[in-house]
Amino acid sequence: MNGNTDYGSRITDHSAVPVLAIDGPSGSGKGTVGLLLAARLGWHFLDSGALYRALGYAAHRAHIALNDAAVLAGLAREMDIRFLLQDGASVKVLLDGAEVGEVLRTEESGKYASQVASILEVRRELLQKQRDFRRLPGLVADGRDMGTVVFPDASLKIFLTASPELRAERRYKQLKEKGFDANLPRLLGEIRERDARDSARAASPLKPAADAQILDTSALSISEVVDRIYSVLAARLSQ
Ligand code: DC
Repeated sequence: MNGNTDYGSRITDHSAVPVLAIDGPSGSGKGTVGLLLAARLGWHFLDSGALYRALGYAAHRAHIALNDAAVLAGLAREMDIRFLLQDGASVKVLLDGAEVGEVLRTEESGKYASQVASILEVRRELLQKQRDFRRLPGLVADGRDMGTVVFPDASLKIFLTASPELRAERRYKQLKEKGFDANLPRLLGEIRERDARDSARAASPLKPAADAQILDTSALSISEVVDRIYSVLAARLSQ
């Protein structure tokens, strides 16, 4: 192998691109924290939940049964989803060219997402799509299986937790602030139901990677969580 080829293979080697994997259940704060860290680091950001939400939403819109593995896998392959980082604190999500950010955040889209996410064929289709986000100078990826399946060689793996009650409360406030109708007991029920489905499924269940650092965010503010992760990552990258 000559010098040029060696150089060429190094710059296209995705494993050279650092990844910060942030996993955890919904409402643990990983979306907000991940976005802020991506902005602070100047890295790309992957909200993998939005891929599952977009697929669930697109399937529902097209009247496709949410357990039809073959058709859903085809839809996942065809789906054109883009994330446009806005001002460091928000992302515009485009599905086949149309903006869908708001509708994807609804509890209904979350429920559809959780159903399509339990299908192995769908997860297989979305695997490469997610890995394609790994570009220089680095990637912050948030989801359920970033550290276990999608980026097992991530530079740092964080697993965020918080009690279901607190997560339901956070979600309630978020929805109210955005002017959506919200019901706390129902949100808590939905969070528990989704946790159970995400943790019990055979394909990439929600669980911390063996080498993940577990961080309980119950008593921490968003900026405390961001600062802690940032320092651990900075120390890790300078090793
Ligand atoms: O993080 P979220 O609430 O946007 O995720 C929506 C659903 O998608 C959730 O029920 C779990 C699923 N999901 C997944 O299975 N794997 C991921 N990497 C991200 C989300």
